[in-house]
Amino acid sequence: MANLNLTDVGKAYGGTVEVLKNIDLDIETGELIVFVGPSGCGKSTLLRMIAGLEKITAGELLIDGQRMNDVPPAQRGIAMVFQSYALYPHMTVRDNMAFALKLAKKTPAEIDEAVSRAAKVLQLDDYLDRLPKALSGGQRQRVAIGRSIVRDPKVYLFDEPLSNLDASLRVATRIEIAQLKESMPNSTMIYVTHDQVEAMTLASRIVVLANKGIAQVGTPLELYERPENEFVAQFIGSPAMNLLPGEIVEPGTVTQIRLDAGSGTIAANISTQDSDRGMKVNVGIRPEDMIATEADTYAFAGKVEIVEALGEVTQLYFEKAAADAAAVIGKLQGIHAGVRGTHMKMTVDPAKVHLFANGRSLLYR
Ligand SMILES: Nc1ncnc2c1ncn2[C@@H]1O[C@H](COP(=O)(O)OP(=O)(O)OP(=O)(O)O)[C@@H](O)[C@H]1O
Ligand SMILES: [Mg+2]
Repeated sequence: MANLNLTDVGKAYGGTVEVLKNIDLDIETGELIVFVGPSGCGKSTLLRMIAGLEKITAGELLIDGQRMNDVPPAQRGIAMVFQSYALYPHMTVRDNMAFALKLAKKTPAEIDEAVSRAAKVLQLDDYLDRLPKALSGGQRQRVAIGRSIVRDPKVYLFDEPLSNLDASLRVATRIEIAQLKESMPNSTMIYVTHDQVEAMTLASRIVVLANKGIAQVGTPLELYERPENEFVAQFIGSPAMNLLPGEIVEPGTVTQIRLDAGSGTIAANISTQDSDRGMKVNVGIRPEDMIATEADTYAFAGKVEIVEALGEVTQLYFEKAAADAAAVIGKLQGIHAGVRGTHMKMTVDPAKVHLFANGRSLLYR
């Protein structure tokens, strides 16, 4: 049970290599915050600074209002679960989970109680006397989580805890983590992942890190529906949002835009002013919002070069306009046989259009 406040937090390794700066973030008790961002953007660094495993070189970290910058890790009330769950191989599940409590000189009764409670939450009751080598990857990961639960920490930190698991186990363990969080509504969790689905399904809010800072913080659907900038727009959602260059030709409460690769104008339910007429914009259209059309007015037209038929959806990759351009992608519901090599026209619902100028969303001016 804890809230965290990060104010102007920064990190420079060795005093010179700056990897994070100006991080301002308030986390409420009971939240499950997910950090996402490209590899090397500083997610683990930020988590390790909160845990006290890495020095905070600028700014301030408060937990429940108390400054933590110089408090040793063991006294922060934090438990961290890593990607590689280093269980003690010669100890049973029970002893692995009890280890930290023994070190903390808890009584055998207290240890028993804490271990049983954690085992119950994680459905490990039947495995308490086994050695780690006799467990599946998912069960081992649960033991690693169990080791943190027994300590009843104020804050849980997870650094890609599921990335070593195979696809089906990941899904199962993801759902277990969601249930675990539900069973501990007052626990505060911070969770790092590269997995879009984990981020979208687990997070109360997602923090997108990029370029040493926070690109946007919001609920999963806020980031999906109202990304503040092109980076977040393309980072959240898969395949990434298409960005199509165009120009505002008719401002208003509904804005008309002419697209370089389109014909006629398309509408966006985004309000613009007279002074925006002629503005160069990037029109953001998610692949799943692309609609095939036969009309004379369309947002994009091109030759379908690659077709990925996934059954539930069909992903169309259009021929690139230039070698270094990103392929425009459409994601259509259902099966579409025989579209490869054909020329298709695409349009979009005005409510689904995103508009960016100089990388920033026009919704946030
Ligand atoms: N001990 C260190 N000394 C110097 N630079 C470091 C150190 N640890 C990490 N870095 C650098 O800091 C940056 C952020 O690393 P970090 O591990 O936090 O990234 P990440 O977002 O967790 O990446 P990934 O998604 O690949 O795990 C990287 O450029 C990394 O090379
Ligand atoms: Mg990392």
